[in-house]
Amino acid sequence: MIVTTNELFRLAYGSYALGAYNINNLEQTVGLFRGNLGKSQKNEEKANPATSAPFIIQISRGARSYSDKRFLEAIIRTAEGVFPEAIFAVHLDHGTEEVCYDCIESGFYSSVMIDASHESFEKNIEITRRVVDRAHAKAVVVEAELGQLGGVEEDVVGSVCLTDPAQAAEFVQRTGCDSLAVAIGTSHGAYKFSGTQGLRLDRLAEIQRVVPPRFPLVMHGSSSVPKEWVDRINAAGGKLKNASGVSEAQYLPASKLGVCKINIDTDGRLVWCATLREAFRDKPEDFDLRTSGKVFMVNYAQYITHKNQMLGSAGQLEAVRAALKKT
Ligand code: G3H
Ligand code: 13P
Ligand code: ZN
Repeated sequence: MIVTTNELFRLAYGSYALGAYNINNLEQTVGLFRGNLGKSQKNEEKANPATSAPFIIQISRGARSYSDKRFLEAIIRTAEGVFPEAIFAVHLDHGTEEVCYDCIESGFYSSVMIDASHESFEKNIEITRRVVDRAHAKAVVVEAELGQLGGVEEDVVGSVCLTDPAQAAEFVQRTGCDSLAVAIGTSHGAYKFSGTQGLRLDRLAEIQRVVPPRFPLVMHGSSSVPKEWVDRINAAGGKLKNASGVSEAQYLPASKLGVCKINIDTDGRLVWCATLREAFRDKPEDFDLRTSGKVFMVNYAQYITHKNQMLGSAGQLEAVRAALKKT
């Protein structure tokens, strides 16, 4: 069942965060659904209530143009039929104004992100407000972003610029956005910190204090870049040096401070890369794409199940289903 991100945030606020996972293809989608239903072994039939989680599927502009956006829509619609017990939102990640309108009009996306964070404060407000008006008219909810993450956001090169709490309060009030992505020290990709830095939970607490009560905050760039997967990649011929991510131990403290959505893309790429490298290293005579595809779907499902445990969303699916039934 496809719901809006905000229906999920309302139930999660203050106690756990939803995993927001980027997908690009069939194998990621199947692994994602299985992992969120606790079906982490191959061909497992029954969902495991102890590890089943509501979740968010994110589609970036890059994912939409990787082949054709209609393939992703069809894959997700099919997954909805194959896994009828799943509860999830379909969200556009880092949208421009034009792509937001395309997704809003499509009738498929329940949530869009307008990312005008690289614009001036006033221009960001102006663009976000326009998207909010168009989205709300179609019952689609909007995530906006204020402040800039380090590293590269698609084609926007950002310098590290933490979100200013006073600006955040004004931004939320003037734009009418439904959730806000804040910059609190993370960055996209596999190289987030050069030393022992971590999330700026102090800044997050200040932001939470000034935005409206129970207003959902979002953390981008939140992959943990697990050492286990980086080591496996390097042991199979990769060259990822000094990769580092967000400590998983900081997810729950962030959720207590209003973070309801935690974005994970890089970790999925690491699982993919390790799986393929190991397959080519260990079975050099095998050229069947399904050999590594099957292993990836199992590896990714297990990874998602683990991630949801760290986010606190594991085991919440039935409570969410019951709460949604009442409304
Ligand atoms: O924030 C960016 C996401 O990781 C999406 O990456 O644009 O390469 O699909 P992508
Ligand atoms: P990571 O690069 O840390 O996975 O962040 C993904 C993200 O923020 C997608 O919007
Ligand atoms: Zn992002």
